[in-house]
Amino acid sequence: MMVSKNVYIHTIGCQMNVYDSERIAGGLAPLGYRQVSEPESADLVILNTCAIREKAEQKVFSFLGRMAGLKRKNPELIIGVGGCVAQQEGRKILDRAPYLDLVFGTHAVSRLPILIQQVESTGGRLVDVALSDTIQESPVYTDSPILNQISRFVTIMQGCDNYCTYCVVPYVRGREMSRSPERILSEIQALADSGIREVTLLGQNVNSYGKKEGLCDFSDLLSRVNEIEGLLRIRFTTSHPKDLSDDMIATFSRLDKLCKHIHLPVQSGSTRILSRMNRKYTRDMYLEKIARLRESCPDIAITSDIIVGFPGETPEDFEDTLSLIRQVAYDGLFAFMYSDRPNAPAANFPGKISEAEKSERLQQVLCLQEILTLEKNQFLVHSEQVILVEGLSQRMNTHETSSEASPQWYGRTPGHKIVHFPETERLSASGNIGRLKTIRIEKAFSHSLWGRPVSQEE
Ligand code: 5AD
Ligand code: SF4
Repeated sequence: MMVSKNVYIHTIGCQMNVYDSERIAGGLAPLGYRQVSEPESADLVILNTCAIREKAEQKVFSFLGRMAGLKRKNPELIIGVGGCVAQQEGRKILDRAPYLDLVFGTHAVSRLPILIQQVESTGGRLVDVALSDTIQESPVYTDSPILNQISRFVTIMQGCDNYCTYCVVPYVRGREMSRSPERILSEIQALADSGIREVTLLGQNVNSYGKKEGLCDFSDLLSRVNEIEGLLRIRFTTSHPKDLSDDMIATFSRLDKLCKHIHLPVQSGSTRILSRMNRKYTRDMYLEKIARLRESCPDIAITSDIIVGFPGETPEDFEDTLSLIRQVAYDGLFAFMYSDRPNAPAANFPGKISEAEKSERLQQVLCLQEILTLEKNQFLVHSEQVILVEGLSQRMNTHETSSEASPQWYGRTPGHKIVHFPETERLSASGNIGRLKTIRIEKAFSHSLWGRPVSQEE
């Protein structure tokens, strides 16, 4: 009989890492590893790392410091580090952390079970950071690690060929490669069969899906995903503005399951900075795409990423970013202070902005967006929104939800906004979670909405 062992997987970073961690768990299950939620009871600890910004990288080493203590108590414990920092640093992490057993890169996820078996049998310390020029597939993992989970990520492509000058991704995830539509579709079908109702298709630049390989294009792929029985909603991320085609824009009104939401990172509102970032579009070209999106799909939600304090960003450049944010009036924004990344060319650009100035600019962006988000949310009051119900909120009553003292259901609008609504007697968990429900919005807050079901019948 196979011995049962425990694995604790800690994930830092983007949705791509969340997906990879699920593949890691899936690959380790046949070796007898069961996922646990605390590292203290684990025989194996895997840390999946992120190198996109300085802050994410700092988290890696503070987590590893904690694991050193566990290894002192239990010398049998195996500790492995994977993901982007593993890819970037390779053997150097092993030298820096003597209690580490394994470093595996972004293309080694499918080889992980073999690597772990090697560590188990030889006790040796291993490094596998080879980057390959073919897609590394591993078995589809449908078991949901989280109770009542109805939404999952599916990677459709890996790597990136865009070489934005601030970004580490092309160096740690390798060249852009698309998975075959057949594999993607069968994976999503398996997820839908296991009760998943929403998938988010992941790639660094989904709009160039399949181009290099001569597969179908992204809007064709979406059309085929739209046909999958049992699936209710499709999302995707991330789009690069330069590759967003009219055909793709039209897809939003053509496919009923595709959520009317696009994450379209602009990074800066200054054409001069965009050029130094190697983004390959101007401010006006970006605004033109936004206009076309809204023309074709007036109620589409638009979100973005912003970097403040890119080397050489003058107060005028920054003013251009603020004015673009106002002009687009985003539904939501992720804003980051620029940080130098090893390998990325901007690390050597002149005109570095002080931490204090970056922090000041970040605050200005966040304050502006806070107002815009609230305005956008208030605009939805009295509207009817179709929500995919995700669960029952444990928080009985927070200032954000409502004045009603009972547990609240929650789910998201197509635009990805969280909506809470009151429990009614007729709704049991099994009958509600994973269903679409129409809610009339009555209250707007800065991070959520609140409303009541329009009728009990669907
Ligand atoms: N510094 C700050 N932000 C960065 N991002 C990527 N690289 C950096 C960097 N070096 C941001 C971009 C990207 C998001 C995922 O992270 O806004 O869209
Ligand atoms: Fe990085 Fe640019 Fe590729 Fe996005 S498109 S992953 S920002 S290089």
